Amino acid sequence: MSPDTNLDLNDPRLQEMLSKKIAAATALLQQAASHFAPTAFANSLGAEDMLLTDLIAKEALEIEIFSLDTGRLPSETHDLMRTMQKHYNIKLHLYAPRPDLLEAYVGKEGEDAFYKSVELRKACCHVRKVEPLQRALKGKKSWVTGMRAQQAVTRCGLQGQQFDATNGLEKFNPLHDWNEDEVWAYIRMREVPYNELHDKNFPSIGCAPCTRAVKAGEDTRAGRWWWEEPQHKECGLHDKNA
Ligand code: ADX
Ligand code: SF4
Repeated sequence: MSPDTNLDLNDPRLQEMLSKKIAAATALLQQAASHFAPTAFANSLGAEDMLLTDLIAKEALEIEIFSLDTGRLPSETHDLMRTMQKHYNIKLHLYAPRPDLLEAYVGKEGEDAFYKSVELRKACCHVRKVEPLQRALKGKKSWVTGMRAQQAVTRCGLQGQQFDATNGLEKFNPLHDWNEDEVWAYIRMREVPYNELHDKNFPSIGCAPCTRAVKAGEDTRAGRWWWEEPQHKECGLHDKNA
């Protein structure tokens, strides 16, 4: 997702659509905070997640914000973690991989085993993301993500609110029906800080060794696990989206 679109931010139709979607996304966040508390927002520091951070901070919602610090995130993402906390005066909770599990995986398979097979890649995602996510969600009644249905074939059935059977709690996706232009229109209108990799043709950002820039015309997630088929491109955080 690139920030330099040719959007006309003064277009009344865009403004009307945005205000409807902002109201609906805010209502879902309020629903999570009031009826499914305690709730937590999984923040990858991507564009969608910065938009949600802005909404949560401005509405002063009771939603804990956390990141899964995989140990392989790009330095630009760490920079934005610092900027974001300062800008909004909020706390970002970090969950790192368990050292014993990491040591066992890296010791057996090597640092960069994810390039060898989908199974080894998913095993790395499990140690670095899924297990820490399970800890982050302990004791929570719901969680919030920045996923959109249009992002991937694996996400086309995404709802604003659905039960997450894998983790056993309610899941909110307040941006499920947003498109890319709307996300960037919000970011530009409200001057939301964003990851500088977005300016270098990284529409979707994950761990550094598993993310690369996309070429013109390629889809948003083409730079994520680019050596795999689109139907495999989920890290295990969001197994059952439909
Ligand atoms: S994923 O394939 O890495 O899961 P993506 O980067 O599109 O996909 O992120 C989708 C959503 O998963 C984000 O909006 C965020 O809610 C959550 N997420 C992904 N990575 C992280 C992370 N490192 N820390 C916290 N949440 C994350
Ligand atoms: Fe490991 Fe890559 Fe998954 Fe990050 S995205 S946890 S480095 S396989």
